Amino acid sequence: MTALNEDRIKKIAEAFTGRDSDPVCVPFGNGHINDTFRVTINAPEAPLQERIFVLQKINSTVFRNPVQVMENVLGVTGWIRLRLEDAGLDPERRVLDVIRTLDGQPCYVDEDGECWRAYRFIRDAVCYERAETEDIFYQSAVAFGNFQHLLSDYPAQSLYETIPDFHNTPVRLRQFLDTVERDPVGRAESAAEEIGFLRSRGDLAGRLTQAAAAGHLPLRVTHNDTKLNNVMIDRETGKWLCVIDLDTVMSGLSVTDFGDAIRFGASTAAEDEPDLDKVHFDRHLYEVYRQGYIEGCQGALTDSELQMLPDGAMVITYEQALRFLADYLNGDVYYKTARPAHNLERARTQIRLLSEMEQLL
Ligand SMILES: Nc1ncnc2c1ncn2[C@@H]1O[C@H](COP(=O)(O)OP(=O)(O)OP(=O)(O)O)[C@@H](O)[C@H]1O
Ligand SMILES: [Mg+2]
Repeated sequence: MTALNEDRIKKIAEAFTGRDSDPVCVPFGNGHINDTFRVTINAPEAPLQERIFVLQKINSTVFRNPVQVMENVLGVTGWIRLRLEDAGLDPERRVLDVIRTLDGQPCYVDEDGECWRAYRFIRDAVCYERAETEDIFYQSAVAFGNFQHLLSDYPAQSLYETIPDFHNTPVRLRQFLDTVERDPVGRAESAAEEIGFLRSRGDLAGRLTQAAAAGHLPLRVTHNDTKLNNVMIDRETGKWLCVIDLDTVMSGLSVTDFGDAIRFGASTAAEDEPDLDKVHFDRHLYEVYRQGYIEGCQGALTDSELQMLPDGAMVITYEQALRFLADYLNGDVYYKTARPAHNLERARTQIRLLSEMEQLL
């Protein structure tokens, strides 16, 4: 693999802006999945908007087919842009805008076969890692709800399934039970209580898929990474602008997008907090997010979807507990760990949240 030095990134940026553009590239943002750079080109006469962009290497370990990822992104962003224009709104800071390479491709493939893409820079906007105030969390809910609203009539089935079975909870449960059975690194005994809990909640796994199969939950465009830091917020007004990080956009269920935001955002502690006394499901934050989400959806959700929002939160929390515990039992092959029981601790926080959701929702 060729080292990713300054010269090389500059060359890659030039695939989008031309040889004479003299791009200056600096690492940018706090993303964990893709390598992100802010690029400024030397074009003193051009407006700021045309001089700065974001360059990202798509993580090829997570996304096996980056071209399909970009097809999904182009489909969805193009659609949102039209919807905004129809509504008389300026799309400039309201949707990601893909910059094509000079030869018209949605991404540039480098000498190692890695895919790079570029977006216009959304100016005067911030992304928050933590909801410092309740309103920031609320703003993110309206943004994700609005995303659902703008895409409510998009042909969701036309999107590529870029990560197969991403929220297929029955499959996750089967994989978990299989791992328990095999116990490949001899850790099952140390997690007996947690395994017992997750087994006892096995009926949760099929709750959403069965409702979808029965026609109660429609197929939607889902974002699949509805974390706070994937929402751009206006630096001046503190109001939401748009949703970013569209790599995991696929077809799925609205309630799982909602549920994952709750799992992550309506907890009083970090996902890997070892002291369970600090981990609680915050019913008030749940309500704040629910209201913001419904407001943003502007009537796009059906009655069954509205009714099943709590199920979304519980099923996704259950699914995440399965995934963390399966990784612990597999010897920590997927999630990065800093200590031997890290994945077990993560599974415990999810179990704690799920238990409290069962009481409070
Ligand atoms: N078009 C844009 N304009 C301005 N800033 C952007 C833009 N796209 C991304 N960013 C910044 O770069 C950061 C990382 O981007 P992004 O979320 O796409 O990467 P990621 O590695 O997939 O993140 P994650 O850790 O959420 O998976 C964002 O949090 C944001 O601060
Ligand atoms: Mg992100």
